[in-house]
Amino acid sequence: MIRLIEKLENGQRLCEREFQQLIENRTPELAALLAEKAVGARNGVYGHRVFLRGLVEFTNYCKNDCYYCGLRCSNWAAQRYRLTEAEILECCREGHRLGFRTFVLQGGEDPLYTPQRIRDLVYKIKKEFPDCALTLSVGEHPREVYQSWFDAGADRYLLRHETADPAHYQMLHPHAMSLENRMRCLTDLKEIGYQVGCGFMVGSPGQTGAHIARDLCFIQEFQPHMVGIGPFIPQKDTPFGGEPAGTLELTVYLLSIIRLMLPEVLLPATTALGTIHPRGREQGIAAGANVCMPNLSPLSVRKKYAIYDNKICTGDEAAECIQCLRRRIESVGCEMVTDRGDHAQMKG
Ligand code: 5AD
Ligand code: FES
Repeated sequence: MIRLIEKLENGQRLCEREFQQLIENRTPELAALLAEKAVGARNGVYGHRVFLRGLVEFTNYCKNDCYYCGLRCSNWAAQRYRLTEAEILECCREGHRLGFRTFVLQGGEDPLYTPQRIRDLVYKIKKEFPDCALTLSVGEHPREVYQSWFDAGADRYLLRHETADPAHYQMLHPHAMSLENRMRCLTDLKEIGYQVGCGFMVGSPGQTGAHIARDLCFIQEFQPHMVGIGPFIPQKDTPFGGEPAGTLELTVYLLSIIRLMLPEVLLPATTALGTIHPRGREQGIAAGANVCMPNLSPLSVRKKYAIYDNKICTGDEAAECIQCLRRRIESVGCEMVTDRGDHAQMKG
C-alpha cells in the first residue's frame, strides 16, 4: 500500500485495481500517512489557505427524480421555493459585504428558471460584481446553453458525475437520466472553458470499493478543477430514506487520495461532511480539503433546501457561519481567505 501512496505522490497514475486495493486495504495508519502527504501537497500549492465560496440555493424545484435526493420531483413533502432575481442579487450583495469574492448559484433543474433567465442573472451578477467569480450548479443542459452562460460571464460549473459506473448510475437514477449524458455535459463544460467540478457521494446505496475505484480513475482521467465529495445522507422522504449514511472515515480517506492525485484541485470540505460529524469539515481540511461553502441563502428558505436530513447551518446567519468557520479552519492550523481562489493553473 505504501508503494501505491508513493506512486500517487510522484504523480504516477494508478489503475482501477490499484485504487481498489488502496480503498479496500485501508487502515488508520495508512489514512494518517495519506492525510499527512495530502496536506503537504495542498500546502505546496495553496499554502494553508482555505477558500470560501458563498452558496446561494436559489430554487429547490427540480424536474429530475434521483432516488437519493430530497429535491426529487416525486417528493411531495418538500416545500418548494424559488428566489426572485432581486432576492438572489441581494444575497450576493450581502455576501460581497461579508467579503466573499466567489458566488455559487445552485439549484434543482427548475423548468421555470429557463436558460434565458439564468443567463440574465449571470450577466447582472457579473456586471455588479466584476471582481467576483461566478459558479453555476444547475444540472444537465445542452451545450449551447452552457455556452450562453459562459458568454454571459459564468466562470465555473459544478456537476457531480455521482458515479462513474453505468450500472450503479442506473441504481441511483430513473431511466430518464443516463451516465452518458452526464459525461457529455462534463466534457462540454470543460471544452467551453469553465473551471469544472465533478464528484460523487461516498457510501451511496449499492456503492462498492470497485465503484469508487472507477470514480477515482475517471477523476484522474478527466482532470477536473474541483472535486465535490461528501457522504451520502438519507433523506426520509426518498426511496433511500432507510439506507445507512456514508462514513466520515472513508470520506476523509478519499479526500486525501484525491488531493495527492491532483495537488492543485479545489476540494471542498462539504456541508454533508459537517452534518455527519460535528468536526467533519475540520477533519476534511486536515485530510487535504481547501474550500468551504457557507450558505448565503435567506434564512426563510434554508431548511427547505433539504437534499438530505439534519443539514447543518440552516438556522445561522451567513455572518455567524463565517465566524464559526474561521474558528474551525484555524483550529486545524489553516487560514480562511475570501478572495476568488482560482485553480492554481487558471489565475490572472
Ligand atoms: N446525501 C448526500 N448528498 C446528496 N446529494 C444529493 N442527495 C444527497 C444525499 N441524500 C448530492 C449529490 C448532488 C449534490 C448537489 O448533492 O451528489 O450532486
Ligand atoms: Fe454555519 Fe458553523 S458554519 S454555524
